[in-house]
Parts: sequence; C-alpha cells; structure tokens
Amino acid sequence: MIITIDGPAAAGKGTLAAFLAEKYRLAYFDTGMVYRAVGLMMVLAGLDINDEEQAAATAGQLTFVKMMELSKHPDFRSPIGSQAASVVSAHPKVRQALLRMQQDFARHPTFADGQPASGAIYDGRDTGTVVCPDADFKFFITAAPEVRARRRYEEYLQKGKEVSFEEVFADMQARDKRDAERATAPMKPAADAVIVDTSSMSAAEVAAAVCRQIEQGKQNKSE
Ligand code: C5P
Repeated sequence: MIITIDGPAAAGKGTLAAFLAEKYRLAYFDTGMVYRAVGLMMVLAGLDINDEEQAAATAGQLTFVKMMELSKHPDFRSPIGSQAASVVSAHPKVRQALLRMQQDFARHPTFADGQPASGAIYDGRDTGTVVCPDADFKFFITAAPEVRARRRYEEYLQKGKEVSFEEVFADMQARDKRDAERATAPMKPAADAVIVDTSSMSAAEVAAAVCRQIEQGKQNKSE
C-alpha cells in the first residue's frame, strides 16, 4: 500500500504520517528531506543556492546515506535550512535529479533499520501528483497560514531556537508562495486527493478522519 500526504509546511503532515506508518506498518519517506539535504550541502559548501546548475550538480551527488547524515546537522530544520530547501526545490533540474531516488523507495520500501516493508507513506508537496501518481490513497493536509506559523513557532520555542513569530510567519508565507508558483510540480492537491483542513482539528481528530477514509477505501476496493 502506498499513501501520499501533501500540503504546506506545519499543516500536520509529519504527525499524521508517523501515526499512519505505525498503524499500517509502512516505511516512511519525508521527501522534504531531499531538498533540505541539497540546500544544506550548498550552504555548507558556500555555493549559491540560486544557481540552478550548481544545485542540480549537488542534487546528483545526494545518496540516502548522505541525506540521513545531514539530517543530524543543527541547520537541517532551522530557518536557514528551510529557506535553502525552499529555494533549491524551485529549480526544475533539482526536482528532476531527485525524482528517481524518491520513486525507488516505493518500489523497495524499507524501514529505518533496513528491514523491507510492504508499503510506504510519503509526505511532501508533490508526492500524490508527481512522485507517486498511482498511490492507493492520497491526502492533502492544509491549515490557515496563521495557525501553521503558530505551530512552527511553538516547535522552535520548544527546541530553544530564538525566532520571533513575525519572522516564522514571513518565512512560511515566502515558502508557500514559492511552492505554489514554481513552474515544475507546484504544490497542489492531486485530482483524486482527499483534502483535510486541520485548522481547528487536533492531531487525533485528523488521524481518525484519515483512517476512516482509508478503511472505507479498502472496503470499496474489496467489494
Ligand atoms: O516539508 P519540508 O518543510 O521539510 O520541506 C522543505 C522544502 O522542500 C519545502 O519548503 C518545499 O519547498 C520543498 N519540498 C518540495 N517538494 C516536496 C517536499 C518538500 O518542493 N515533495
């Protein structure tokens, strides 16, 4: 079984994906990690993230192992890392270079310990539209920009990061705009995705609503 969860930052995709991965025993691919890894590789190497050729060359060097290594860097999920990921992800050649790696995971889904899984859950922006257009279940998880910025701000506070709400909100709006307006694979719900607005829902309510859809879908398929 392949499930895709797309949508903007801090809408609740990661929490939902982790819940579903556990419930249905699926391997989890957080696809934002590939763009974060490329962005961070460039920042650490002092390269210009706006240079598409250099960004594509960097993407071509990325491996799963390298990505996991970079994910331990303090800037991997910091505002610097988020901004770099957002900029490099808008380059069509970068998206092309990273597509195969993402699609291979659906063919051979593996848990973090290397054990094979019977299916995968993806989270990102284009996983239902481009990466896995034939997924069994597709969800588009969204929430009002202020709600998402507040959630991300509180996450940063919990991690002891010093940022202002205004900064987080502005950063999120810039990333949303870039994701929505880029020419290649802009963020949008797949035609067959179920859209869930989590603005006034708890994580448990979101999980329950999505599980109902999956169970209903499974039942329809077996009839
Ligand atoms: O999901 P996350 O915030 O970690 O993603 C980092 C950045 O990578 C996003 O701002 C988005 O621009 C980009 N991204 C993308 N396509 C995906 C996943 C993430 O363009 N499938």
